[in-house]
Amino acid sequence: MNLKDKVVIVTGATSGIGESCAIAFGKEGAKVAITGRSQVKVDNTLVKLQQVGVECIGVLADAGVEEDNKNMAKKVKDHFGKIDILINNAGISMRALFEELDTAVFHKVMDTNFWGTVYATKYCLPEILDQKGSIIGVSSINGYRGTPARTAYTASKYAMNGFLESLRTEVMKRGVHILVACPGFTASNIRNNALTADGGAQGESPRNEDDMMTADEVAQHILKATLKRKRDLVLTSEGKLAVFLNKWMPGIMDGIVYNHMAKEKESPFK
Ligand SMILES: NC(=O)c1ccc[n+]([C@@H]2O[C@H](COP(=O)([O-])OP(=O)(O)OC[C@H]3O[C@@H](n4cnc5c(N)ncnc54)[C@H](OP(=O)(O)O)[C@@H]3O)[C@@H](O)[C@H]2O)c1
Repeated sequence: MNLKDKVVIVTGATSGIGESCAIAFGKEGAKVAITGRSQVKVDNTLVKLQQVGVECIGVLADAGVEEDNKNMAKKVKDHFGKIDILINNAGISMRALFEELDTAVFHKVMDTNFWGTVYATKYCLPEILDQKGSIIGVSSINGYRGTPARTAYTASKYAMNGFLESLRTEVMKRGVHILVACPGFTASNIRNNALTADGGAQGESPRNEDDMMTADEVAQHILKATLKRKRDLVLTSEGKLAVFLNKWMPGIMDGIVYNHMAKEKESPFK
């Protein structure tokens, strides 16, 4: 598969993995549409894309708002004439004990990560069916294995995986490719912006971001998996090990995961 003149939408592309995907796909010749909730941040990413010669547009859209997704699909179709690839990347995380978590925070995480994927896919699917294109979900290792104090995030990623597996099978005879990409820990703003029990931003990452895979590396893996039309992508050796161990010894993994996450800075459980 060649990306020359393919039209790619990347949701939540003003930072981290989304921005890196927009640049990586654009450098391969794709025309790129990016979304985000802040005009200033969208414009900053558009400048970065233009600096490397990518034909691009920005659409202000909140992933969790159905009408914004409908408008996004229409604007991209009107501007570029088609949609080949949708990268459902917009996402938000949280960290709090479930017993202390405001249910509004749970809704916010599900709205962005899960419903954002459902809405964007719903409104882009007719075009992607026409083009026999690709739908990519940027999920997480949390789509295979839950971690304590990340109930809403884990639920949203399991829901994404289930939705996309079901849809992949539904459209399997119609030429559409669906990739579920599950990065491991990746250096980005996700942990700074993660929501606490009352919905405020965590502010600071509780982990050493320097030890993590970079967003550019994740984007290269997603690009290659898309070109090969792979169905699954699980990243980092730690992430691959977690998925493997959880499949064969989930009870033992409960203890391993508990102890690992309890070591995070200011963990809400010990
Ligand atoms: N970093 C990791 O360790 C890691 C691991 C596994 C999976 N992931 C997944 O990778 C994806 C990207 O995360 P990241 O690590 O790159 O985080 P990030 O640096 O915080 O980027 C998140 C992006 O999502 C956008 N976004 C957030 N809420 C949105 C909304 N309601 N509507 C539209 N856009 C929204 C943000 O844009 P605005 O704030 O400008 O709207 C931003 O561009 C997420 O789905 C995340 O779950 C990350």
